[in-house]
Amino acid sequence: MSSSDHRARLLRAAEFRRAFDDRLARIEQQTPFDSVYDLDTADPVELWELPDADQKWVGRNARYAPTPVRSVRNALSRCDVRHEEATFADVGCGKGRVLLLATELPFRRIVGVEASKALCDIARSNVETASATHEGCERISVVHADATEFDVPEDAGLFYFYEPFALDVSMAVLDRIDDSIRRHPRRVLLCFTGRGQPDGNGSDGEASPIAAAAAELRPQWNLVETVTSPDGEFYDSFVYEYVPHAPDSKITGGYTS
Ligand SMILES: C[S@@+](CC[C@H](N)C(=O)[O-])C[C@H]1O[C@@H](n2cnc3c(N)ncnc32)[C@H](O)[C@@H]1O
Repeated sequence: MSSSDHRARLLRAAEFRRAFDDRLARIEQQTPFDSVYDLDTADPVELWELPDADQKWVGRNARYAPTPVRSVRNALSRCDVRHEEATFADVGCGKGRVLLLATELPFRRIVGVEASKALCDIARSNVETASATHEGCERISVVHADATEFDVPEDAGLFYFYEPFALDVSMAVLDRIDDSIRRHPRRVLLCFTGRGQPDGNGSDGEASPIAAAAAELRPQWNLVETVTSPDGEFYDSFVYEYVPHAPDSKITGGYTS
């Protein structure tokens, strides 16, 4: 790539970010969350600005930005899960907003995985603040780990991804999830929110989030729902279900016959 092409690409990425942040700020004003509950989830953070930024995950990843409140609620409500039997996992949980909103559903446990310790600390502090006024926060745990090395809970039934990383990392994470299902057969859904990469590396015109391509590439993951965001200016969510294709599969507890 010539230096002028490179420069043009950086400018496009910067412009995309500015427009995206303006959009996010407008949505946040419509559904205040932090100001109501005294939390710190709304402000985006560039991963390279974090005190513990590590090239291992910063270089090929996007940034922290929260999923808008109504979009989270809407997407989770459309995931057909037996909450009482399942752990919910937000892979790349950032400051923990989705974890807090997941307490509105009766999940057995709620786990956030986050590569940045600085963001984990903010998430834990948000959980502590919220626990003063909200029930269910005791079900939340925030795990400081790279998602490619995270121990998948054997009862995890719904994984949420909002543009946490690029395709190669998503493939490695899905390897772990697939392996967990083989060892502990159960019904599992994946919910991907987003479109393209917010850092401008992907095209904003793509049909589904980059991370979702990892599921698209595997026959055992079937797209079962496309959930339109209620925040008109935000991204849709794509829900995939694990459908074993081996005839003697031992998967139990599913809704599909
Ligand atoms: C766009 S934010 C989404 C935050 C949150 N899930 C939400 O929707 O509000 C993506 C998060 O993924 C985290 N992340 C990126 N790569 C990761 C990895 N390899 N392992 C764990 N977390 C990662 C980032 O630090 C960032 O906080």
